Amino acid sequence: MHPPYYDIIKFSEDKSDLSNATNVEEFLLKFGAIVEKATPFLEEGRYLVLVIGDKYSSGEWIPLGFYCMNEVLKRGYVFKKHRRKNFEETRGKRNQKRTLAVSCARRRIYVFKHEYVMLFKKT
Ligand SMILES: C[S@@+](CC[C@H](N)C(=O)[O-])C[C@H]1O[C@@H](n2cnc3c(N)ncnc32)[C@H](O)[C@@H]1O
Repeated sequence: MHPPYYDIIKFSEDKSDLSNATNVEEFLLKFGAIVEKATPFLEEGRYLVLVIGDKYSSGEWIPLGFYCMNEVLKRGYVFKKHRRKNFEETRGKRNQKRTLAVSCARRRIYVFKHEYVMLFKKT
């Protein structure tokens, strides 16, 4: 699963698109519902992988990654491991390193450069 990181990028006008959730609570409710829908299609002992980043807004770090981890854990999975991925070095973002730093400095916001890859096993 690679859901929107709440409203960081708006992906569509569709109301059911997680990037259009009106607040973090609604985002997590909808994310949890999607995990619940997907779970019956995964055999026991198989893995669910979640790629998700956090959000920084109005001087507050919003730990979306950990909130989403919790939503998965409520639904019959055990947590196996996670990796923190620095997206500055990924193919899609590596040319944006300086642009990102300048944009964040101008707006006086924290330079955000990581996301999590989380691995869960269905029990
Ligand atoms: C971070 S992007 C992941 C893109 C994906 N990894 C790919 O390569 O196409 C999140 C995607 O999830 C979609 N999405 C958001 N809410 C959804 C929902 N309720 N059901 C299915 N897809 C949804 C968004 O529109 C967006 O395309």
